[in-house]
Amino acid sequence: MKVALLGLGNVGTNFARIIAKNRQLYHRNYGSPIDIHIAADSSHMVGSKEPIDPDQLLLHKKNGDISPLGKKIHDVDEMFDFLDLDVVVDLTSASKDGNWNRDLYLRAFRNGADVVTANKSPLSHHWGEILKESTKSGRRIRYESTVAGGVPLFSFIDYSLRESSVIRFRGIVNSTANFLLSKISAGMPYETALREAQAIGIAEADPSLDIEGYDNAWKTVIVANHLSGSSLTEADIEFEGIRNLIESGGVIRQNIKLLSEVTIDHGGVEVFAGLKDVAPDDPLSAISNGSLGFTIKTETREVLVNGIKDEPLETAAGVVNDVLLVRGN
Ligand SMILES: NC(=O)c1ccc[n+]([C@@H]2O[C@H](COP(=O)([O-])OP(=O)(O)OC[C@H]3O[C@@H](n4cnc5c(N)ncnc54)[C@H](OP(=O)(O)O)[C@@H]3O)[C@@H](O)[C@H]2O)c1
Repeated sequence: MKVALLGLGNVGTNFARIIAKNRQLYHRNYGSPIDIHIAADSSHMVGSKEPIDPDQLLLHKKNGDISPLGKKIHDVDEMFDFLDLDVVVDLTSASKDGNWNRDLYLRAFRNGADVVTANKSPLSHHWGEILKESTKSGRRIRYESTVAGGVPLFSFIDYSLRESSVIRFRGIVNSTANFLLSKISAGMPYETALREAQAIGIAEADPSLDIEGYDNAWKTVIVANHLSGSSLTEADIEFEGIRNLIESGGVIRQNIKLLSEVTIDHGGVEVFAGLKDVAPDDPLSAISNGSLGFTIKTETREVLVNGIKDEPLETAAGVVNDVLLVRGN
């Protein structure tokens, strides 16, 4: 399977590690290994007709220059001219409009490639346009890791809850904000807690996206659209983050969380992306700090899905799983 890997940060490098280690497994179980033919960070894009060795990619990225690994590719159009790709994997940084990534996905579909993304910006700003072009082109997009990182969410909804309609989703899906709330409520200064979140690799490159609530809002939009067939964008919802609470200087209660909630009612959809207290008997109180999880209520049952730990390795694992699924394996 010929893959373009765009983004070589916390998640992208873990993606390369996982596929290097499991090459034989994919070959044996799914008939084909995952081969990187295009690799890009913010400074370089390189292409190779032969698979790029993931270990070499990691080494060159660590040394700060991936350009010796292949031919220099100047832009996305040249990338598609260079080689017939099967899957474009988007692990680039989140942005406030998702425009660049939207254009990338539309080009991918038109050039016969599927898309796998952990980047929620394009889907939370251009859902309708992206899904429409994917259908028109007969290509697929999978976005498992956009919302709950490595905790299965969309594949769980699609394959394990088919018996009746989903009526409610409630989740803790922004690691950074909830990590900060819990550390600050335990007495740690904000700056120290943020440095810890950045060291683990869970905070966005631009942490204001987490702190001002954009990340949680974008995830809420994606869940709402997936569940209800709507085409909401960030502009359609109200949301809050944790900045005002932190800057107020007041006491931060230990049970306050940044929540994402979606309710489907008689075909309509209601969303909430903001702060709420989580009572001790609420199933969401079982989700450990540093992890993600959610409850899903259907007309027949309610389940709690809870990760143990959610860091870039777990997110990358969800992305690899999507790559294996997107080609129909
Ligand atoms: N970290 C997590 O646990 C997690 C969980 C769920 C979803 N996500 C999402 O996954 C994506 C990656 O997260 P991350 O933590 O790996 O971020 P990151 O460490 O900041 O890495 C982002 C990567 O994207 C590259 N990049 C930026 N603009 C690019 C462009 N135009 N073309 C090619 N590469 C570009 C950066 O290049 P440089 O290396 O040159 O800076 C970097 O390698 C983000 O969209 C994030 O929201 C992350």
